[in-house]
Amino acid sequence: MTDPIFTAWKPEHSALWGNVPLHLKHRLHQHELFSRPALARLIEAAPKSNYMLIETGRPNERKLWREGEMGKLSGMEVMDAIASGRIWLNLLRVNEIDPQYGKLLDEIFAELEGRIPGFKTFKQINGILISSPRAQVYYHFDTAGQTLWQIAGSKRVFLYPKEPPFLTPETLENVILYNNETGIKYENWYEEYAQCIDLHPGEMAQWPLNMPHRIENADELSVSMTIEYFTTDIRRNMFVNGANGLLRDKLKVKPTRTLSGPSLMAKTALYAAASKSGLLKRGRKQRRPITFTLDKEFLAKPAVSAPAPDAARPAESVLGGD
Ligand SMILES: [Fe+2]
Repeated sequence: MTDPIFTAWKPEHSALWGNVPLHLKHRLHQHELFSRPALARLIEAAPKSNYMLIETGRPNERKLWREGEMGKLSGMEVMDAIASGRIWLNLLRVNEIDPQYGKLLDEIFAELEGRIPGFKTFKQINGILISSPRAQVYYHFDTAGQTLWQIAGSKRVFLYPKEPPFLTPETLENVILYNNETGIKYENWYEEYAQCIDLHPGEMAQWPLNMPHRIENADELSVSMTIEYFTTDIRRNMFVNGANGLLRDKLKVKPTRTLSGPSLMAKTALYAAASKSGLLKRGRKQRRPITFTLDKEFLAKPAVSAPAPDAARPAESVLGGD
């Protein structure tokens, strides 16, 4: 038997998983797949469809948020550029780029499913987020289950209640239906209600489904692994909220929020039909254009300061999102 991935799992973590924010220890920061040469190879092997490269702003500075692509730099040079810039590189579905990362994903879920009674997952994907000192991910929430594993550097995760006004049913429905996060409201006073988790190498965080959060890097290069997964409950939440959004948005009906029985079946059918008809795709936001190439020329230029289309709330989620 291989060594456990979670190095300090307590029996109570099995009961707490998914219900409250958890801050746990792991050993992946020492794993060969996360060594600098392995990450450099992964960067060099990633096609454009498997990454997002974003230039972002520092906290308390005019917001910047633009998407780029990697030029002809080596993986090591890309990491050096990120270490000295304001950039994050999200390598998406790394299991598609290198099956070894898929094997690791399988090992993680085999261990979790062994530790948490009744925990059965599907559609698991993992990504690797490499980001600059002080880079940040703005206030948002995710529609699938999430975990965040710190490999190198440190970051602070700010978590907020998943109830109004922090997250309203209408916002949840709009994000599920149209992948459009521009309606997420954020107020500075939310910070008084935030719960913080400081993540260092060898630590990971997991939090309840849909819980709003934002992330700030410490003053050093950060490498994290993000994992997204579904369970039947998470899929049910998506179907019901998606169908409720359709009822409210298209049929002008005030929906109930039942998660079981005939209502669930009807909503599942409604959401599936809308999804199949292409109705949802038409309303979904397109990815923003590519406006820079990370190459030697880019590195020689001074930093650009341009506002994001909606600076406080970028359309794509960083954690596991694509
Ligand atoms: Fe997220």
